[in-house]
Amino acid sequence: MSLKGKHIILGICGGIAAYKCASLARLLIKAGAEVQVIMTPAAKEFITPLTMSTLTGKPVISEFFTANTGQWNSHVDLGLWADAMLIAPATASTIGKMANGVADNMLVTTYLSAKSQVFIAPSMDLDMMRHPSTVRNIELLKSYGNIIIEPAEGELASHLIGKGRMEEPENILKVLDYYFTPKDLQGQHFLVTAGPTFEKIDPVRFIGNYSSGKMGYALANEAAARGAEVTIVSGPVDIKGVNPGVKIVKIESARQMLEQCEKIFPAVDCAIMCAAVADYAPVVQHETKIKREKDEIPVIHLMKNPDIAATLGKAKRAGQLLVGFALETDNEDVNAVDKLHRKNLDMIVLNSLKDAGAGFGTDTNKVTIFTSTGRQSQFALKSKTEVAADIVDAIVSLAHES
Ligand code: CTP
Repeated sequence: MSLKGKHIILGICGGIAAYKCASLARLLIKAGAEVQVIMTPAAKEFITPLTMSTLTGKPVISEFFTANTGQWNSHVDLGLWADAMLIAPATASTIGKMANGVADNMLVTTYLSAKSQVFIAPSMDLDMMRHPSTVRNIELLKSYGNIIIEPAEGELASHLIGKGRMEEPENILKVLDYYFTPKDLQGQHFLVTAGPTFEKIDPVRFIGNYSSGKMGYALANEAAARGAEVTIVSGPVDIKGVNPGVKIVKIESARQMLEQCEKIFPAVDCAIMCAAVADYAPVVQHETKIKREKDEIPVIHLMKNPDIAATLGKAKRAGQLLVGFALETDNEDVNAVDKLHRKNLDMIVLNSLKDAGAGFGTDTNKVTIFTSTGRQSQFALKSKTEVAADIVDAIVSLAHES
């Protein structure tokens, strides 16, 4: 998406994490980027140029000129071609050279010529990472405006445990994607509800649903990548890592979700109600575990939960946008439009459970968007990240309409 058509130089150094560059290159290519790999001589001991050139569709550059043809590989041209340069894995040695202007190979020379943003993903043993020279060199690189993609903690190639593992390719891609996403929501505040709600029966049981929270978190990440400040009010989900600019408020029940949303809503420009809120909660929440009686089957009396979207719809002031979701199994369009009006929403995103790959738990979704201004747009089956971008685009268009 935001990486589509971008020119990326992937600089690979001689570290064990170089093997991860195959996945990294694939992810970049899948996201639509053009990738030119430059390898240090030592990198070729860890991953072959053939692997990298096959994946990227471009010959790998490693030397200043091609020996048999005498063709000059211009680091200056490469530096001008690149929209971003990513050095991953960056070893202590290359970090030292970059920090101090040592230009003794193609990678470092191109780094010195690059006019674009440079991202550096270090990878080394924990003691090398902690060494005062590495610490000082990384500080120097930061002072040049380079972005350091901090290494993760974990088991290292030396079997020591600590900080030094190159960040996973998926997370490196997120950093680049974030950088290239246009910041058209700067200064805006968003509220997103996400995940299921759990309605407590007793200390070990609850009424819940299969919502994974993926769609809500993808929306929050997309809005934040575009410059918004976002608060997610989230039911229990297992999702790690959100974009900078996203704050998470964890809740369990629908009533707790409503309480938080009512606090946050007055200050936001847009609220997206993506949570799968349980419609009912037990009237009594037992303090102790309900025991299995011999012949009796317990009856759990339920009461209606508040409708959070409808409550915010009533409180909505001019200039605020309220977006809801509708998960339907039949009569989809009519039910969705009815919900849009009933809850005083400005937009509703319809998922049909009839569509394979849409709705709960999956990584994909297929949506139709209806607006209160009478517009209807249908989208193909896409990843939830791509769907989030479509929904945020629709919100931006609607904000310009009203
Ligand atoms: N919603 C909410 N609070 C509730 C129920 C739903 O905020 N108690 C929001 C959802 O987050 C979603 C929209 O309302 O944005 C529609 O949710 P959905 O479950 O499809 O609709 P319901 O109103 O529960 O109607 P039904 O279950 O009968 O389809």
